[in-house]
Amino acid sequence: MLPSAKLVTAKLVDSIRRKGFLGTLKSCAAEVEEIRFDRKFGIQTLETMSDRQHVLTVTNQPGDNLGYQPTKIRTLRKILGDLRIAYEDFIFLDLGSGKGRTLLIASEFPFKRIIGVEVSPELHCIAETNIRAYRSATQECRAIESHCDDAVAYELPAENTLIFLFNPFKAPLISKLLLNLSESLRQNPRRIYLVYYNPVCHDLIADSEMMEVVRVTDLYTIYRNKDAGSDRAPSWS
Ligand SMILES: C[S@@+](CC[C@H](N)C(=O)[O-])C[C@H]1O[C@@H](n2cnc3c(N)ncnc32)[C@H](O)[C@@H]1O
Repeated sequence: MLPSAKLVTAKLVDSIRRKGFLGTLKSCAAEVEEIRFDRKFGIQTLETMSDRQHVLTVTNQPGDNLGYQPTKIRTLRKILGDLRIAYEDFIFLDLGSGKGRTLLIASEFPFKRIIGVEVSPELHCIAETNIRAYRSATQECRAIESHCDDAVAYELPAENTLIFLFNPFKAPLISKLLLNLSESLRQNPRRIYLVYYNPVCHDLIADSEMMEVVRVTDLYTIYRNKDAGSDRAPSWS
């Protein structure tokens, strides 16, 4: 159903108040890009009204699951394009991958494999349909999978991994993830990068013995484990 003219006007006025006219124009351009992306590839990665509701049905602690909101396409391309890593040495792992948009955008880079883990069966199902439908000439990696699982129960791959988090859950689960990561690194020492978009639990990660901050921007922070020796392109400075 299309939003009413009144709602659209109210949203526009609110946006101009918060972001200014230029900021609002940029946001509109980003919205159009997202709609065109889905149309072009016959997929569905946009946030819908019902996404908010079924999130509450997939966890015993509704407050811990922050719901589906996709990363903006241009933001993700910029984040991944700015990475100073040898992509082919890394698995891209999105914990809380929703409808799989990040997995499709990540496939424009030559990652070894691309994995999404999503707790909601409905969102995971949409991600699988999207992955099957997606055919792009710009794809550099075609090994893409979505798994329906709790991110903190999922066994982390034993290879070099770039973990992407777009604020999927709150502090208790971030702590659990850090414990899992620490145990996994003990068993299989390797390089882990963590890209945390909207890093609301930054302090938990920065204060952990295991990770160090390598890049901070106003949108996201990148961390890596301290004890993995050197990799081929380590510096962000
Ligand atoms: C903000 S959305 C981000 C979606 C996607 N990563 C992106 O950037 O486009 C967060 C996602 O995390 C999922 N999620 C929340 N808690 C989770 C958990 N414990 N395990 C796996 N997925 C989870 C939500 O269902 C939602 O789809």
